[in-house]
Amino acid sequence: MTNNDVPVRDSFSGKVGVIAAAAGSAVGLGNIWRFPYVAGENGGGAFLLIYLGFIFAIGFPVMLAELTIGRRAQRNALGSFKKLAPGKPWYLIGLMGIVAAFMILAFYSTIAGWTLEYLVQAFTNGFSGQDAMQLKESFEVFQSGSFRPLLWQLVFMFLTAFIIYRGVKRGIEKYTKILMPVLVFLIIIICIRSLTLDGAGEGLEFLFKPDFSKITWPVILDALGQAAFSLSIGMGTLITYGSYIKKDTNLPTTALQVTVADTSIAILAGVMIFPAVFAFNIDPAEGFGLVFIVLPNIFEQMAGGYFFAIIFFTLLSIAALTSTVSVLEVVVAYFSEELNMSRRKATIIAASAITLVGVFATLSFGPLSDALILGKTVFGWFDYLSANILLPLGAIFIVLFVGWYLGKKAVADEITNQGELKGRLLNVFLVIVKFIAPIAITLVFIYGLGLIG
Ligand code: PFF
Repeated sequence: MTNNDVPVRDSFSGKVGVIAAAAGSAVGLGNIWRFPYVAGENGGGAFLLIYLGFIFAIGFPVMLAELTIGRRAQRNALGSFKKLAPGKPWYLIGLMGIVAAFMILAFYSTIAGWTLEYLVQAFTNGFSGQDAMQLKESFEVFQSGSFRPLLWQLVFMFLTAFIIYRGVKRGIEKYTKILMPVLVFLIIIICIRSLTLDGAGEGLEFLFKPDFSKITWPVILDALGQAAFSLSIGMGTLITYGSYIKKDTNLPTTALQVTVADTSIAILAGVMIFPAVFAFNIDPAEGFGLVFIVLPNIFEQMAGGYFFAIIFFTLLSIAALTSTVSVLEVVVAYFSEELNMSRRKATIIAASAITLVGVFATLSFGPLSDALILGKTVFGWFDYLSANILLPLGAIFIVLFVGWYLGKKAVADEITNQGELKGRLLNVFLVIVKFIAPIAITLVFIYGLGLIG
């Protein structure tokens, strides 16, 4: 790098920092907001099982493949392919990742904004005295408005941009190390309260008892999309983060730890939400609003609920922030390294452009709620297209690149840290990235989209 602004490429300080940042990216609204509502819409237990299968059989290898590319190339998501495959069209994978990043951040910031609204409501005791129906109504009134949802989205994008502008090491890395464990602790406490509600058993049954009659190809595609979304794979986030990882960090262990942490939190979120969904007579297929209706209900029924609500929504906002930061970093790293912009300029341009697109996602719940394209709102399309189309597509090409283009020697170097680690599963990994993952994703894709009947 000869750019005067960045004489030495930024990097994470070490192992713990890498895990905190990568887990910070993976653990977010995808686990606590998206997983329960998508699982709820798709019948619960059987969905969970298929989701878990995808996480470990495909998600984990794709994550490792991304880290391998990033650390090898030491560049952003698009530049990495240009460097490793000069003059070849592989860089288009990176380009697709940038597009996915735009879409994800556009709709993610809508929901992230909602968490800030709920944080303020928690502070002002806004849930107090409301029953389940009233809380549902308040949520609907809020999200279908324009001013407050837009304001919070703007605030959230500003926070994200601020952290990215400052660099990741001394901001996110430092705080995620402390905050992620607190989030887990809190979720466990809320789980306990949820589990002790009358009628909790039905929720657990819904979450854990598979009913395969609900499973169709589109549901399987939803499970794959959710797995990719939750692990932050398929668009180069982990290529970008991988490029900040030092040579002595063990990539397979890192990928495994992040995968396990992410999955555990999704399951805990399910245990937190579904017992309460049934106890309060809420429809598990309620959709986007599920957690925002169910959680305030739980807090209302808890001793000390006022404080738990504040802490919970604080942490949820932070979990969202450590994810939005990682998405914005993909675009900013690309702008600054490939288009030769200063980090500051790249951050301002990327964040402003994404916020502008995001306005349409936010207004999808209010003034634009009737502007349907093939039955979905703008928000619905961003959510569906990014998770179910762009991320799986990105994942296919990423594994193909590592399996067929990068070469065994390069892959072995990264996985074993130049021979220092044993790399016993190297061959298994290669078989997965060469054959199993691309074929499996392609099949789910083709059938899930109904391309073949
Ligand atoms: N994994 C994040 C979550 O579960 O909330 C969302 C996300 C972040 C998706 C980064 C994709 C990404 F590249």
